[in-house]
Amino acid sequence: MLKILKHLNLSQKLSLLLSLIFVGGLAISASSVNALLNAKAQNQISLQAQILLEATSAVRDYTDTQVRPHLENNTQNLFLPQTIPAYSAREVFEKFRANESWGDYLYKEATLNPTNPRDKADLFETYIINRFRRKTNTKQLTGFRSQPFGKLFYIAQPFAITQSSCLECHSTPEAAPKSMIDRYGRDNGFGWKLNEILGARIIYVPASKVMQTAHQSFVKVMTIIFAIFTVAILAVNWWLNRYIVRPLNRMTQTAEALSKGNMEAEFEQNSHDEVGRLAKAFTLMKISLRISINKLEEFRTKLNSLNS
Ligand code: HEC
Repeated sequence: MLKILKHLNLSQKLSLLLSLIFVGGLAISASSVNALLNAKAQNQISLQAQILLEATSAVRDYTDTQVRPHLENNTQNLFLPQTIPAYSAREVFEKFRANESWGDYLYKEATLNPTNPRDKADLFETYIINRFRRKTNTKQLTGFRSQPFGKLFYIAQPFAITQSSCLECHSTPEAAPKSMIDRYGRDNGFGWKLNEILGARIIYVPASKVMQTAHQSFVKVMTIIFAIFTVAILAVNWWLNRYIVRPLNRMTQTAEALSKGNMEAEFEQNSHDEVGRLAKAFTLMKISLRISINKLEEFRTKLNSLNS
């Protein structure tokens, strides 16, 4: 390898070095840019999910504290699901995702034994709820879920009944308002116990679009880095040729011409840098050489005339 290097000329050696830097630099930039953009995309998705989950909590809270009290007397005769926090949170979210841009977002109060079948936890959600049930101090779980239409990011928070007032409708069908039984039946959503984890509030945010944007940014940034590296290599090569390789080649030719006896050959000095100073030194050497040769000539002529 070293032997091959010795036979390369300066610009080839430099090109080789720059190419190594180019490949290494590109690989390092690619991995760090990728990590950075991915982290940024993840943060963005996670923030969206967090905000939406907070917003649904606010709707729940509003319904619980401001709507339900107004209709409490009414519920005996006519059951109004609109007064139920879980229902209003879900309905508000359904309105939100009716907009085409947010159609892939989803909010669910996934429950193992729900009052409304649309809240029934699917296999994936059951797995999450069981994790919360096993480790009761887990406050939140996040991650990705693959769906046929793309990848979803989720944030899940466990829920349990913490107030005994909730048990009026969620303990036994006998305790629940008749109007509620008429609407929802006696089979689902009963037997809940205080402080037992019953399900998880889950928000799903489509990750594919954000990830795709991150990927596009990655391609853009890498193209710019690639272009900068390419221009730098071309510029350095051009500079090396113009200011070092060509002047050195010219000096070599001049030195060769001089060695063959052409004393008219001149070392060109076009700059005052190291290369220029080398040309100047060669010129001085050539002058000294000429003086020495002249002296030698004179001496020889004198010797000849003395001899004759
Ligand atoms: C007046 C009866 C009533 C009371 C009181 C009540 N709920 Fe409900 N709850 C319901 C009904 C009805 C539904 C189903 C709403 C729907 O159609 O989405 C429901 C749904 C839920 C759900 C969604 C899962 C499911 O079963 O479909 C959760 C979670 C929930 N309630 C929690 C609570 C909590 C916590 C309290 C106490 C703060 C509470 N509920 C008090 C009637 C009640």
